[in-house]
Amino acid sequence: MVTLAENPLRVGLNQERVPDPCILVQFGASGDLAARKLIPAYYRLFVQRRLPPEFTLVGVARRDWSHEIYRDKMRAALEEFAPQDLGPEALWQDFARRLFYCRLDLGDAEGYLRLKQFLGQLDEERGTRGNRVFYLAVAPDFYAQAIQQLGAAGLVADPAKTRVVIEKPFGHDLTSAQELNRIVQRICQEEQVYRIDHYLGKETVQNLLVFRFANTIFEPLWNRNYIDHVQITVAETVGVEDRAGYYDAAGALRDMVQNHLMQIYCLTAMEPPVSLRSDGVRNEKTKVLQATRLADLRNVAAAAVRAQYGPGWIAGKPVPGYRQEPNVNPNSQTPTYVALKLECDTWRWQGVPFYLRTGKRLAKKVSEVAIYFKQVPLSLFPSAAREVSPNILVLRIQPNEGISLRFEAKMPGPEIRTRSVEMDFRYGTAFGSSTPDAYERLLLDCLLGDPTLFTRADEVEAAWRVVTPVLSAWEAQPEGNGGSAAPPLLTYEAGTWGPKAAEDLLAQSGRRWRRL
Ligand code: BG6
Repeated sequence: MVTLAENPLRVGLNQERVPDPCILVQFGASGDLAARKLIPAYYRLFVQRRLPPEFTLVGVARRDWSHEIYRDKMRAALEEFAPQDLGPEALWQDFARRLFYCRLDLGDAEGYLRLKQFLGQLDEERGTRGNRVFYLAVAPDFYAQAIQQLGAAGLVADPAKTRVVIEKPFGHDLTSAQELNRIVQRICQEEQVYRIDHYLGKETVQNLLVFRFANTIFEPLWNRNYIDHVQITVAETVGVEDRAGYYDAAGALRDMVQNHLMQIYCLTAMEPPVSLRSDGVRNEKTKVLQATRLADLRNVAAAAVRAQYGPGWIAGKPVPGYRQEPNVNPNSQTPTYVALKLECDTWRWQGVPFYLRTGKRLAKKVSEVAIYFKQVPLSLFPSAAREVSPNILVLRIQPNEGISLRFEAKMPGPEIRTRSVEMDFRYGTAFGSSTPDAYERLLLDCLLGDPTLFTRADEVEAAWRVVTPVLSAWEAQPEGNGGSAAPPLLTYEAGTWGPKAAEDLLAQSGRRWRRL
């Protein structure tokens, strides 16, 4: 393997900090997230020598496993979800001897005392000095209980040594998020709490900050004087998979918009932070959310579209509709597609609509931010297309990570005719390395004690506030109840770009979604 010192592409980059010795206590150790994302991320960090030599992982779950069984299960998870990272057997063995297991029922107070004792014993043996990260990757209904029990057992009493990571979704709506924040804050200091939104761990999402604030040429244009509107798309081809138990009660607005799309939106719309320290960035994101509202609050249907996928085709194969998926209620009203028109009431953005869309079983997996600049005031040149295209800056979040700028150029020939062309930056080509997985970055930041890429209590609540009018309208008057203002739940064929109503959302003002 190429080491840091040998890799010419890393020359001149800072040597990274290594976290202090610590025990990472993984709640939900037998779950899907642990197997798919977390264990591969810990393992890659270990292989890259980014973890301290004393690093210790304690898996916690209800199953009656031994340390050995836990190690075998985690190895099986790596073989299934990250086989390319496994490397030589000796490397795995070196990692495996840092893994331990503790059986625990989340409601069992005695169990937490046993865990406490075990962690104390590991501190002695492994030199982890009482530093702990408790990572809650359990069903969201159990967050409050787990935190209360950790508090009662005195496991999170020292803010300098203990941190708690909470997975999304943080709450089910504004009220439940506020309640969860109250419980968490009764037990922990805010600086101990790391609320995860894995989109913030994506390089391309972080690059929104760098692109805007490490360059001088874009920021002067980044406002209502030059920008016509912004489109944020997060499209997936996967369906609900085997997550109906969670998803059918959540839907696309809670699952994707309140968190991932809002984070992308915040980084696109925020003011320059006074510093890159955590509160500098999080203050600005929170301010943007506080200034954000649905474009038409009196008529939710005019600014918010919801739909559910029906049967269709993905990659040449027939796929079932959402209601035919395993464990989905056959009369489910859960949206798998959402499009919103938002407005941001600030001097910078007044009158510039932000259109957000996300959906499952769409035609393509693609996430991007597209900044549409205003048209030229007077068109002097004939265009090869029917209408002159505006300049569009596209920040591609995934896949084909990169940035492109579309502008008009003269077509070769004796006449002056224009056509749109693109300048394109690609991460892969420019940096010659693959981008690390989002969880790797977030886990490392948490171990290093840097909360910048985690969401703060007030920020989570502000994001819920933006989506609350939509949730209320959709859930107070579900379709069929006769409520006249109830925006209908539409359907779209799997493998398409969603319902026509989403096109209409932009067409009202003469705009249209980018063809992707
Ligand atoms: C998760 C959602 O947070 O993000 C999933 O719960 C979604 O429904 C996933 O599929 C998308 O993440 P990514 O990194 O694949 O874009």
